[in-house]
Amino acid sequence: GLPTRVRVHEVGARDGLQNESSTVPTEVKAEFIRRLADAGLTTIEATSFVHPKWVPQLADAERLFPMVSDLPVALPVLVPNERGLDRALALGVRRVAVFASATESFAKANLNRTVDEALAMFEPVVARAKEGDVHVRGYLSMCFGDPWEGAVPVPQVVRVCRALRDMGCDELSLGDTIGVATPGHVTALLTALGEAGVPVSAVGVHFHDTYGQALANTLAALRYGVTTVDASAGGLGGCPYAKSATGNLATEDLVWMLRGLGIDTGVDLGRLVATSVWMAEQLGRPSPSRTVRALSHE
Ligand code: HMG
Ligand code: MG
Repeated sequence: GLPTRVRVHEVGARDGLQNESSTVPTEVKAEFIRRLADAGLTTIEATSFVHPKWVPQLADAERLFPMVSDLPVALPVLVPNERGLDRALALGVRRVAVFASATESFAKANLNRTVDEALAMFEPVVARAKEGDVHVRGYLSMCFGDPWEGAVPVPQVVRVCRALRDMGCDELSLGDTIGVATPGHVTALLTALGEAGVPVSAVGVHFHDTYGQALANTLAALRYGVTTVDASAGGLGGCPYAKSATGNLATEDLVWMLRGLGIDTGVDLGRLVATSVWMAEQLGRPSPSRTVRALSHE
């Protein structure tokens, strides 16, 4: 069976904009987030409190967050370490996400750490967040394939998922960072996670659409009982430290499929498409989302 409701975790303002070559003005980012909230999205990842040299596109986090923090939606942010957590807590952030890697190559490229050193870096972050009743998401990148290492063995992924859970992460997000997953692989990983005692209610999926498989992978995850799906408005996105990655699953493509299946998301598709068309104008290039293109030319 399929769920009756899905929570969309909108990542366009973070995963999308972190990969734009142009610097988007802070005011435009704030307006983007406001429009996303207006379109009915209730979880909108706002920015990252990472080293500004590593992700210069999000170096304005201190200025951006207070511009949107009045919105009646959840506004999670990425924090890699205690320095990031301090910066976030100083602004009243209530939801944070740490981001681990299933592979050594990407842990090094993205965090300048081994997999286990990165986990050790997250441990005090998660502990302090939990003490303050701050919700913690644990991302795991390269759950299916890695640009340097190829296919990633399921047990290797399960081990890091367990570590993030044991550390206290409230939810996990399984990242197909370079978009190489296919539905059978998704089902195999979810099955192995279930066997390792990770409840499906605590698992979200995060598909990039490089090979056009993101929707098929999402459907496989929904059939398995997943109800949290990451997507980015207009299909913005990628990852600066994984060059072969393209944008995330487009939120519009996701909502179109879910609507057809009778699954409620609370998202107003017309408003969302208008937002992505507006954002595409700001960025000076059209949205790669098929649904945005179809609905904006109607
Ligand atoms: P490092 O160079 O090892 O840092 O980078 P360090 O711990 O050695 O510290 C060096 C200096 O940086 C120090 O300053 C720190 O204070 C400062 P100094 O004492 O030399 O003056 N520093 C910071 N400043 C501001 N904010 C901070 C911070 N931390 C240290 N938070 C580090 C390690 C983790 C910081 C770095 O590698 C980093 O920022 N990485 C972030 C990379 C990133 O954001 N990647 C994209 C997000 S992940 C993603 O997109 C995947 C996802 O979408 C899922 C999927 O698709 O798979 C989530
Ligand atoms: Mg991503």
